[in-house]
Parts: sequence; C-alpha cells; structure tokens
Amino acid sequence: MNLRALLLASAVSGALFSVGAQAADMTIGFSQIGSESGWRAAETTVSKAEAKKRNINFKIADAQQKQENQIKAIRSFVAQGVDAIFLAPVVATGWDSVLKEAQEAKIPVVLLDRDIDPAGKDLYLTAVTSDSVHEGKVAGEWLVKTAAGKPCNVVELQGTVGASVATNRKKGFEDGIAGASNVKIVRSQTGDFTRAKGKEVMESFIKAEGGGKNICAVYAHNDDMMVGAIQAMKEAGLKPGTEVLTVSIDAVPDIFKAMAAGEANATVELTPNMAGPAFDAIIAFKDKGTMPPKWIQTESKLYTQADNPMAVYESKKDLGY
Ligand code: AHR
Repeated sequence: MNLRALLLASAVSGALFSVGAQAADMTIGFSQIGSESGWRAAETTVSKAEAKKRNINFKIADAQQKQENQIKAIRSFVAQGVDAIFLAPVVATGWDSVLKEAQEAKIPVVLLDRDIDPAGKDLYLTAVTSDSVHEGKVAGEWLVKTAAGKPCNVVELQGTVGASVATNRKKGFEDGIAGASNVKIVRSQTGDFTRAKGKEVMESFIKAEGGGKNICAVYAHNDDMMVGAIQAMKEAGLKPGTEVLTVSIDAVPDIFKAMAAGEANATVELTPNMAGPAFDAIIAFKDKGTMPPKWIQTESKLYTQADNPMAVYESKKDLGY
C-alpha cells in the first residue's frame, strides 16, 4: 500500500487521526529552509499567521540553508509525534530515508514551495507549489516579446544548485525563448537566491561582457538576486530597466520599488501563502479523511511597469517581506 492509500485508510478508520478532531488539537512542524530572500521571510511570517488563524500549534525549524539541518528537524518532529510535517526542501534529492521514517511513524508530510525528485512521490501526501517551469516560461516569453526581434544577449542568475525551482525556472525560460534565435543566454551562474550573491555574480558578468555593453537583459530566478544585480549595474554606470532589461520571479515589494523607479521591468509573482492551503488540506484530511490532490498549484502572475508598481509596492510592503 502506498503512503496515500495507507494514510487514507488510517484517517478513515480513525487510527491515525481522530475523525472530527479540531485544528486546535493539532501540532504541525515546519522545516523551513532559512531566510535567504525577502520571499522566504514572508513565507515564514505568513505561515505563522495562517497557523494562528486556525489555532494550530505550529513549530518552525530554521535550517539555515542546510539539508542536514532539515533532516535533523524532521527527525525531531517525528520523535515529538507531531500530527503533520511541512517541508520546504532546499534541494530535490536526498530525502528518501528521512521521509520513510516519517511514513513509518504515520506522519503525513506536505511539501511547500519546492519539489523533490519524482522517485520520492509516495513519501509525501501533497505538495503546495507553483508551476516553476511555467514561471520561467512566462519570463522568457515576456523577454522575447519585449526584445521584439532585436539581438538580445541574456545573463542568467540561477537559484540554489539542486533546488527544484532553480532547475525548473531555467528550463522554463529556455522553453520560453526557444523559438527566438535573437534571444540568447550568454552567461549563467548561481547566485544562491541571495541579494549579496546576485550582486557579486552580476559584477563578474559585467566584467566578462565588456563592462556590460554586450548585455541586453538579466534574468534572475528570484527578485532578491535581481535587486543585487540592479545595484551592480548602477555601480558600473549601466541603466537597468532601460539599457538593460530585467525579468525575475517572486514579486517582492523591493522589485516594485525598482520598477516604479524605472530600474526593473518585470516580475512573476509567487505567493508566500503556501501554508494556508497546506493547513486546509491537512485539516480536511484529518477531519473527514479527504485525500488532497497530489499537487496543490498556486497561481503565477506577470507584473510589468504597466501595472502601477508603486501601488503594488504599497499593498505588499507590510505583508512580512
Ligand atoms: O522556493 C521558492 C524560492 O525560494 C523563491 O523564489 C526564492 O526567493 C526563495 O528563496
């Protein structure tokens, strides 16, 4: 019997969850990656607020970007006998043993915002994520449209090596530009989803590309790296947003500030509220034995300078970013 069937049978029989139990009875542990980006910080804040709304006892373990810390946190949640575990997996591989331990303890695991390798599919109940290939594709298609047939050399700032979202956003962007021979990725390197690394890598791209003269656009797998890259471009005397096009992912308040100042062009939104749908799925599962879909997909929306970036900034700035 696979995990979903086993958990469903247990839920229905009441062996795993008492049917009709209230959310307030539940303790959920969340192994969070860390706080590498504004988006991640917002996800932590929003998760806490969503837990509070539902009276859930919510325990967050900050892994400081290290998979080994996430594995330790999961083991500790299993030892504590929590009702469910949320996991934002820093990388896609290396989860089998620890997720099997959770499975043996009959504790359902929900993935938040990143995926694990398909081989581990039976080891978690559901995943709440965006379609990160689609996000990259939307970014690529926007660039193709905006470059309007002119030659356009792109430099790419990748997310954390081995993270599902980095692999997928790269693939999606490549798909998005595949039909446009004028748009080419000339350099691509990880900036680890951080502002500081984004700036550092962008500085090296600028040096390598004739002081930036050969760069038509920057694609970053998240806004924080783009904010760092914008800083690097300005320090090098370039004009991001006009001379150099920018497109990134997350839609954090700071990128809207840059868009309002004419220094950034486009971003694809990733909601920081992954925990809300995850809590609802676990509550329905516990209360009624409702099996959630394997993938709970969140929306991805493109924003450009035409979308009144200052107003979006104002609406987002107090949301925990
Ligand atoms: O997994 C989601 C990604 O992780 C966000 O786009 C990025 O900002 C974060 O660090």
